[in-house]
Amino acid sequence: MNLEGSTLSPMQTHISQQKSVIQPKQRSKTIDLTLKDCGKIVSSILIPILICIFTVVTTLQQHNSAAQQREQDNHLAQKQRELENDIAVQERLQDKQQQDDSLKENLFSSYLRDITDLTLHNKSININDRMQYIRSKILTTLRRLDSERKRNLILFLYESNLISYNEKNPQKHVVDLSGADLNNLNFTSTSKLKYWLKSINLTNVYLINATFINVYLHRADFTNSIMTDSSFSECVLSDSFFKDGILDRADLTNTVMQNTIFYSSSLFQTNFTNAHIDHVDFRNVNLSRSIKLIKIENVTLDLTFDPLSNHM
Ligand SMILES: *[C@@H]1O[C@H](CO)[C@@H](O)[C@H](O)[C@H]1NC(C)=O
Ligand SMILES: *[C@@H]1O[C@H](CO)[C@@H](O)[C@H](O)[C@H]1NC(C)=O
Ligand SMILES: *[C@@H]1O[C@H](CO)[C@@H](O)[C@H](O)[C@H]1NC(C)=O
Ligand SMILES: *[C@@H]1O[C@H](CO)[C@@H](O)[C@H](O)[C@H]1NC(C)=O
Ligand SMILES: *[C@@H]1O[C@H](CO)[C@@H](O)[C@H](O)[C@H]1NC(C)=O
Ligand SMILES: *[C@@H]1O[C@H](CO)[C@@H](O)[C@H](O)[C@H]1NC(C)=O
Ligand SMILES: *[C@@H]1O[C@H](CO)[C@@H](O)[C@H](O)[C@H]1NC(C)=O
Repeated sequence: MNLEGSTLSPMQTHISQQKSVIQPKQRSKTIDLTLKDCGKIVSSILIPILICIFTVVTTLQQHNSAAQQREQDNHLAQKQRELENDIAVQERLQDKQQQDDSLKENLFSSYLRDITDLTLHNKSININDRMQYIRSKILTTLRRLDSERKRNLILFLYESNLISYNEKNPQKHVVDLSGADLNNLNFTSTSKLKYWLKSINLTNVYLINATFINVYLHRADFTNSIMTDSSFSECVLSDSFFKDGILDRADLTNTVMQNTIFYSSSLFQTNFTNAHIDHVDFRNVNLSRSIKLIKIENVTLDLTFDPLSNHM
């Protein structure tokens, strides 16, 4: 212990002595260096500073052009985003439309299934209740349908003999469509498809702005229906009933009317151009402005015949 202690202590002192000797020398050296080479250092610093400034300036310039570039890029990106947004919005709208359409379609077909099931299979309910149920289903459905689906529904009902009266079976029950919203209904026959709605019963319904073009409507019943702004252009309306109906501003151009009953209806401002009018009951009808406004050509007017006495 002692030996070690004695050997250590001189070494420690030596080190401390060395330290004390070196320290003043170092200090003087650094001071000398700074003083002598101040100019050199300044010039050596100046160059990197200049380079640095140059770099900064050029970087700033580059940065500026880069900023311009970025601005341009941003502008383009913005434009692209806008375009993409437009497309996305359009796609979303289309999706929504398709969803709405398929929703309507589903609603429509499910109601039709209901109706068919009830009428064809459920004989346990009495016929009047069945018809009442069908009626309420139809009226609710119609409010949600566009004009094309309205037409399809009416066609379905017609072909199921639910809204036409069958001459062979006059006792057959029909669905009462009173109050039904059939506005904008469109039956336009084409060269490929000709609509034939003989004996259709559309009494007490709304048919505002409805279109029937080139449709065969023999013995059809439109009694007490509101048909303002509708068109029956080129239709055959033989033996049909429009009693108490409203046909203001209706288009009856090129329409064939034979034994047709307009008794007590309103035909205000109606266009009869080129209509074929034969044995038509115009008693108690408001035809004001129709005659004055419209040039009647090639029309057979026979107001002496009273078809009501035959039918009622
Ligand atoms: C028929 O109608 C009744 C009363 O609404 C109902 O309880 C029954 O399930 C129906 N049957 C069928 C086969 O739909
Ligand atoms: C049409 O239906 C109504 C009841 O909805 C009925 O009173 C009328 O007699 C029917 N028309 C024809 C021509 O059968
Ligand atoms: C009615 O339908 C026909 C063909 O189905 C179409 O050409 C016409 O534009 C439609 N009219 C209206 C008013 O929607
Ligand atoms: C009537 O039908 C026409 C198409 O023939 C349509 O442009 C217009 O919006 C409809 N009017 C109403 C009040 O529904
Ligand atoms: C009546 O219909 C004819 C044939 O479509 C048309 O040329 C004429 O302008 C119409 N008149 C009125 C007053 O709408
Ligand atoms: C015919 O109908 C129009 C429009 O509803 C009405 O202004 C006019 O007073 C009516 N004319 C007659 C004679 O009832
Ligand atoms: C009148 O009717 C006849 C025969 O239907 C036809 O030949 C003629 O072109 C018609 N006139 C007008 C002005 O429509």
